[in-house]
Amino acid sequence: MKVCVVGTGYVGLVTGACLAHVGHHVICVDNNEVKVALMQSGRLPIYEPGLLEIVQPAVRAGRLQFTTDLGTAIAQSTIIFIAVGTPALPTGESDTRYVEAVAQGIGAHLTTGYKVIVNKSTVPIGSGNWVQRIIIDAIAARPDLVTANFDVVSNPEFLREGSAIYDTFNPDRIVLGSNSDRAICQMQELYTPIIDRQFAEDASLPPVPIVVTDLSSAEMIKYAANAFLATKISFINEIANICDRVGADVTQVAQGIGLDSRIGSKFLQAGIGWGGSCFPKDVSALIHTAKDYGYEAQLLQAAVKANQRQRLLAVEKLQQVLGILKGKTIGLLGLTFKPDTDDIRDTPALDLMVYLNRLGAKVKAYDPMYVKETHGAQEIPDHVILSATPYQLAEDCDAIVLVTDWRNFRQLNFAMLAERMTTAVMIDGRNCLDPETMAAAGFYCVGIGRPSVGNLLDVTRQSPPAIAQVA
Ligand code: UDX
Ligand code: UDX
Repeated sequence: MKVCVVGTGYVGLVTGACLAHVGHHVICVDNNEVKVALMQSGRLPIYEPGLLEIVQPAVRAGRLQFTTDLGTAIAQSTIIFIAVGTPALPTGESDTRYVEAVAQGIGAHLTTGYKVIVNKSTVPIGSGNWVQRIIIDAIAARPDLVTANFDVVSNPEFLREGSAIYDTFNPDRIVLGSNSDRAICQMQELYTPIIDRQFAEDASLPPVPIVVTDLSSAEMIKYAANAFLATKISFINEIANICDRVGADVTQVAQGIGLDSRIGSKFLQAGIGWGGSCFPKDVSALIHTAKDYGYEAQLLQAAVKANQRQRLLAVEKLQQVLGILKGKTIGLLGLTFKPDTDDIRDTPALDLMVYLNRLGAKVKAYDPMYVKETHGAQEIPDHVILSATPYQLAEDCDAIVLVTDWRNFRQLNFAMLAERMTTAVMIDGRNCLDPETMAAAGFYCVGIGRPSVGNLLDVTRQSPPAIAQVA
């Protein structure tokens, strides 16, 4: 089928590449000429594991193209995805101006053939009808087109950054919201290779369940899914904070409750909180929508509040261990909001940088994927010293906070790290390091909801400051 994807970000580029990979002809449109030129030259503007390996063959096979020309792309396509960003406004509302601009562009370029307009972007509930209205109004303003033959579908994505390719080919379900049977049939045809598990890890599984519903319910499914997952994480973080006080181990508790099939073991990893371009924005957008309709979503508000507090828990633990932080050097190990991505949007690391700086600490940071030269410096405060390696990060640090659970952090030479530090203190913000290994390497290691290990007095290279053993 002929497909156009507008917006080549973490969602649009993955969606376009995967649809080309399964055999469709895809034109990806973006209004950022630099990005389009980069992709036309065979490189990617984002990091996503496995993406380059499916983009390059699809481009060579002539099934994947990149352009800034929306009109041509629309004329040549039957299915048109809107996948531009919907960032959060300061009020918590979704910023839908990009969706509006693209919908207007689609209306201005629609041709007479039947088209399916697909909302892949996460848009406020009720947007499907709004997009339809925008397109109809844009057509009405055109002298050359009397009526257009199109329907709108809501097809929310459930892609996790870092595993977006896997999630595309191995979905738990496909959600299609529309009041048009014709549009639903077109989408089912489009997704047939995926529904039939032709590119799945386990091709023997039954076909992917398809939830066909109305536009608003499909939009709500997206928000409800993200809000539930974020709330589940805030829940286990709350349990972790109680575990800290009663001496229990939250990793054991998570295992014990996760084996209950009604709870499930996923998204029960306690840490310093959730971030990224989706959870924070989507939960605040849902809270805002509820307010628009006269309802206070108290549980969701509490989940957000608990998450904001959780991000700064690492600072509380640093204060408990090191005392005054003014003048101390703190290293942040990991910057991205999760591993296997280069995305630092709304990462907990940014909150830690600001807060530690306000307390007068010197902040250093390292991330395997974040390089100032390629990602620019606008997101990282100037006072932060970016290190080239974890060992450079460790030099003269009074403590390290592990912010992102990159797999290769578990293989670091912790004895070498400890030797370089003033005080070998590790705040393991993702409970991803083995406590015994850390203690054996000479660290005093503090987790989230886990008993601390090591001996503070043994890990101080100079005369010990006034420090206390942390529970
Ligand atoms: C996606 C979804 O669109 C969003 O709803 C979801 O909540 C998070 O994931 P994302 O892919 O992260 O957003 O957006 P982003 O990485 O910002 O990419 C959006 C792309 O659209 C950018 O490349 C931008 O240049 C492009 N764009 C934006 C257009 O082509 N036209 C516009 O008018 C605006
Ligand atoms: C999320 C949803 O999972 C995905 O379905 C949706 O389409 C987009 O938003 P993403 O934000 O890419 O995906 O990453 P995810 O793996 O969900 O992690 C989100 C945040 O939660 C990260 O900051 C991660 O560190 C944190 N997290 C995740 C936890 O703190 N504990 C967990 O157990 C899982």
